[in-house]
Amino acid sequence: QHFRGFRTGTIRLDPDGWFFTTSFISFGDKYYDFKFKPSDVVIMTYPKSGTTWTQEIVWTMMHNPNLNNPKATLPLLKRRPNLQFDFGISCSSVNIAAPGTILHNAFLQDHPNCNPKDGIFLQLAEFAEDPRIIKTHLPFSLLSPSLLETCKVIYMARDPRDVVVSYYHNSRLLNVMDFVGSMTDFVEHFVNDTLVYSPFWRHLKEAWNKRNHPNIHICFYEDMKANPKEEILRIHKFLDLDLTESQINDIVHYTSFQEMSKREDKKIIGSYTEVINPKILNEDGGFFRKGVTGDYKNKLSEEDIQKINEWTKENTRDMDDEFKYKI
Ligand code: A3P
Repeated sequence: QHFRGFRTGTIRLDPDGWFFTTSFISFGDKYYDFKFKPSDVVIMTYPKSGTTWTQEIVWTMMHNPNLNNPKATLPLLKRRPNLQFDFGISCSSVNIAAPGTILHNAFLQDHPNCNPKDGIFLQLAEFAEDPRIIKTHLPFSLLSPSLLETCKVIYMARDPRDVVVSYYHNSRLLNVMDFVGSMTDFVEHFVNDTLVYSPFWRHLKEAWNKRNHPNIHICFYEDMKANPKEEILRIHKFLDLDLTESQINDIVHYTSFQEMSKREDKKIIGSYTEVINPKILNEDGGFFRKGVTGDYKNKLSEEDIQKINEWTKENTRDMDDEFKYKI
């Protein structure tokens, strides 16, 4: 058992075969029934693909185009609702309660009328200010089938080799997961689809197969990194916004890795110090770890890279040639 945080273990959500913590399972139907509004923008990703970055770009464009909204100083978790695993009932009844309860109580302090049994994240999403910028790691098949007919979705994808490095770090950094195996063990979980929100390829393909729908915009971490202004302008167009060139330039700077890590790392960690493993924080950095492409070359062994490449080859065989990660 490599995840000491998820002590109850993880089980497959049949018949779809998604891998989740048991704490999510009890909320699965509620997530599926969650009502989106036409004004919502959903940021959908497999974990560690650049979710926070995309959220910050979109939230800033829509709520803080002049970079003077005082709410921008609130921690990420308080500004943007999450539709992902929930605590609620399971939080009080399973062993992830220790770190989980801290987050859970922090939310309840701000929203005393929330009933934990109905799912904390779900209710926070319901109460969030419009237009809601909703983060989710859930794939299309676990959300409302009318999602794309109702609102816009931005799907961010990242090279799986960098995803696994970032996910490994995060799984050791957060006590909720407390991963205690090696990088090679983690890679094994990744290619076997036994990480939460896996299967990775199914997640991406569900989005990719909808790419011609007018309400989805797919972007790639590597493109965003190589040319942030161009990618931000694409998002701007997709969202039908009307920002000036100067506002866009300021947002490109404001959402750069340097600026975001300066601003946000302290807040995320400062607010929820209890969920962070200080040893990993000191050794490998915080949530804003490195923010580059290709770090896998420094972190993965040749064998692990080879294993992921083979797996990618197998899983992208049926994808068309324009798919970025096809090998
Ligand atoms: P690394 O661990 O490779 O540094 P998510 O938000 O989906 O959890 O993704 C986290 C990853 O995105 C981390 O990757 C983090 O450093 C990176 N990231 C966050 N903000 C970024 C930014 N402004 N520019 C580039 N990368 C960013």
